[in-house]
Amino acid sequence: MKCPGSPRVLLVPAALSLALLGLRLQRDAQEPFATAPEPETEPGPFAWQEAPPAASTARPVAPRHPLQPPYPYPYRFLLNEPHKCREQAPFLVLLVVSEPQDTAGRHAVRRTWGNESAAGGVPALRLFLTGVHPVFGGPLQRLLEEESALHHDVLQQDFLDTYNNLTLKTLMGLEWVSKHCPGARYVLKADTDIFLNPAFLVRELLQPQLPPKRDFMTGHIYRNTGPLRSRAFKWYVPPEVYPNKTYPPYCGGPAYVLSGDLARKVYAVAQTLPLINMEDSFMGLCLHALGVGVTSSPWGLFNMNRLDYDKCRFSRLVMVHHYSPAELLRLWPHFQGPEGGCAPP
Ligand SMILES: *[C@@H]1O[C@H](CO)[C@@H](O)[C@H](O)[C@H]1NC(C)=O
Ligand SMILES: *[C@@H]1O[C@H](CO)[C@@H](O)[C@H](O)[C@H]1NC(C)=O
Ligand SMILES: *[C@@H]1O[C@H](CO)[C@@H](O)[C@H](O)[C@H]1NC(C)=O
Repeated sequence: MKCPGSPRVLLVPAALSLALLGLRLQRDAQEPFATAPEPETEPGPFAWQEAPPAASTARPVAPRHPLQPPYPYPYRFLLNEPHKCREQAPFLVLLVVSEPQDTAGRHAVRRTWGNESAAGGVPALRLFLTGVHPVFGGPLQRLLEEESALHHDVLQQDFLDTYNNLTLKTLMGLEWVSKHCPGARYVLKADTDIFLNPAFLVRELLQPQLPPKRDFMTGHIYRNTGPLRSRAFKWYVPPEVYPNKTYPPYCGGPAYVLSGDLARKVYAVAQTLPLINMEDSFMGLCLHALGVGVTSSPWGLFNMNRLDYDKCRFSRLVMVHHYSPAELLRLWPHFQGPEGGCAPP
C-alpha cells in the first residue's frame, strides 16, 4: 500500500544524521584555505558575534589573515566548570581536545585513559575542550549541555570549532587553569585519538614524591622544523601568519605535559603574541617569548607513529598516536587487567 508523503518525512532526520556523520570527513578533506561555512540563519543564543575587540585589548595590527585565530578576544565560556578544583588542587589536569559532535570519542576517553582514577592514585581532573560547531552549533548545543550536566567535564567557548582554530582551544584550557585551578601541579594537553598511559606518566615522568618541577614542558620534541608553505597541506602556515623560516623547539600536539606554573605563564604571554594556527608550534613560540626551553624526555615515551598494542611495551610508555575510540575501549580492560602479567618496571 502506498503512503505518499511519509517517506520524505522520514528522510529528513536520516539526512541530517548522515550530514553530521559525514562532516568530519568532509572537513578533513577541506582545502586548508577554505573558510568555514557561516551558521545559516538566525544564530542561537550561544552564537559568537563578529564584534571588534574591546579597546583595552586591541593592538595595532595589520589586517588579520583568515588562518590567524582572532586573539586576544573576550571569548565567553558557554560551558564551564569553575568550581571543579575548589576542594583540592589536582596533581594532574587532563585537557582533552574534542569536537562538539564527537560524543563517542569523549565516551571512550572517560572509560579508558581519561578515567580520573587511572592516574596512579594522584588527584586528577579531566576536561574536554570544545568550541561551537560551524554548521550544527544549534542542534548540537542541547546534546552537549546534557552531556555536560551529566559528566561535568566539558569546557566550551563561543569560537568556531575548526582545525585552524585549535590554538584557541588550548588557550581556553590554559585560561581555565589560570583562573579556576592555579594550584594544579601539571597539565596534560591531549587529543582524543591517542593511547595514553597516565599511571606511567605520573609515576615515571612527573614523580609526585619529588618537589614540583618549574618551567617544565615535555613530550615528543620537534627541533629545527619550520612552517609548511604549501597550501596543499592541512598544516599550511602562510608567511603573513608566521614569517620566520623555523620554529623554536616544541612538543608535538597529540600529547604534551607542562608544569602548572608554566601553564599560567604561557597563557599570560599568549595575550601579547600574534597567534598562529598550529597550536603545538604556537606553544613553542610562547616558550621562546618566555625564554624557557622544552625538556627532553627519555626516548620512546611519546610515539607519534602508531605502534601495535602490546601490554608490556605499552606499560612502559606514555603515549601512542592513532588509536580510535573503539580500539581504546577494546584494549583498555586488558591493559588494566591482570592477564598477560607484565611486571611494572
Ligand atoms: C574508572 O575506574 C574505576 C576504577 O578502576 C572504575 O571503578 C570506574 O568504573 C571507572 N569509570 C569509568 C567511567 O569507566
Ligand atoms: C575562528 O573562530 C572565530 C570566532 O568564532 C571565527 O571568527 C573565525 O572565522 C574562526 N577561524 C577559522 C579559520 O575557522
Ligand atoms: C624570528 O626572526 C627574527 C629575526 O631573525 C628573530 O629576532 C626572532 O627571534 C625570530 N623569532 C622566533 C620565534 O624564532
